[in-house]
Amino acid sequence: MSDEMTGLPVLRAHAEEAFAGELAALAKWDDRPRPPSWRLSPWAVAVYLLGGELPDGTLVSPKYVGPRRIVEVAVATLATDRALLLVGVPGTAKTWVSEHLAAAVSGDSTLLVQGTAGTGEESLRYGWNYARLLAEGPSRAALVPSPVLRAMAQGKLARIEELTRIPADVQDSLITVLSEKTLPIPELSGETQAVRGFNLIATANDRDRGIHELSSALRRRFSTVVLPLPATLDEEVEIVSRRVGQLGRALELPELPGGAQEIRRVVTVFRELRDGLTADGRTRVRTPSGTLSTAEAISVVTNGLALAAHFGDGVLRAADVAVGVHGAVVRDLAADRAVWRDYLEGVLRDRDGWQDFYRAARDCTD
Ligand SMILES: Nc1ncnc2c1ncn2[C@@H]1O[C@H](COP(=O)(O)OP(=O)(O)O)[C@@H](O)[C@H]1O
Ligand SMILES: [Mg+2]
Repeated sequence: MSDEMTGLPVLRAHAEEAFAGELAALAKWDDRPRPPSWRLSPWAVAVYLLGGELPDGTLVSPKYVGPRRIVEVAVATLATDRALLLVGVPGTAKTWVSEHLAAAVSGDSTLLVQGTAGTGEESLRYGWNYARLLAEGPSRAALVPSPVLRAMAQGKLARIEELTRIPADVQDSLITVLSEKTLPIPELSGETQAVRGFNLIATANDRDRGIHELSSALRRRFSTVVLPLPATLDEEVEIVSRRVGQLGRALELPELPGGAQEIRRVVTVFRELRDGLTADGRTRVRTPSGTLSTAEAISVVTNGLALAAHFGDGVLRAADVAVGVHGAVVRDLAADRAVWRDYLEGVLRDRDGWQDFYRAARDCTD
């Protein structure tokens, strides 16, 4: 995949490009009814997300690992007149799932608004090209459509990241869009009506400020789907391994032995600290302030791979991941440092087969 203007290879391809082969194969075999403007049937969208095998043997890789029903409900919602709100703690794949849904349904995951406290109405509605506006007065050509307006005009899915970080009065500019399926443009005495196929996927974090900030008028227009943390150690190990493999290939890191063992250990530590309980259910441990999400486990292991590949002896070792685990657990709070030390001394020091990990972790702990 290369950049439109320079032809240079891009760092990260959009889902619809990275998985173009799978999407084309699915479209070929998909003989179920497709909602207006959808590239695939809801069934095929779910196969794209959850993975599967096509009649000609083409393998569709799983993008989301978790309860099938969650994906079915999310996809079905998008085929109704309600918008979809994905909520969950950080790192539960809200952004990831929304990108893949947009890629599979519309073939385009780029109609994206990143919500922040500074997001203004023009990011959800439209702005103006002021040079043209002054020269020609208000016209369609002077109007700068937001991703939402473009999605309406093209019958595609628009994505809004971190909806609840957007100030409530700005959020409310979506009410007319979602209830009337139109966006009035008073300056032109006109409107843009949504073409069939248009819908919205928004994400919101449980952790930071929460869904409470969604106005009730707006909340009624959304169906909420909660993305859970991975249910089991094995499931989380699978998610991390799969994603680390993809990232490693994209970064052209060599595959190293030792990966499976270290991934399992990183995920074990994260889960025990998150749950406040060791995996055998025997020992209570204190929980640090950070989220220790699956996404963080992925980056700890990827960083470990880079360390091992460039500075190690050709094997992924405990020392390569311990430094990242320490960094994820011990944030700036003194309390985290004590939590980590207690866990190291109380749990890991005497755990069978963990001596190398314990020593490496202790070495990077002051
Ligand atoms: N259940 C899951 N299935 C597949 N990948 C997951 C899952 N949970 C987390 N991930 C991975 O972790 C990362 C999640 O990051 P992201 O989507 O940004 O989380 P969020 O938006 O919820 O904070 C993605 O790279 C994704 O591959
Ligand atoms: Mg996100």
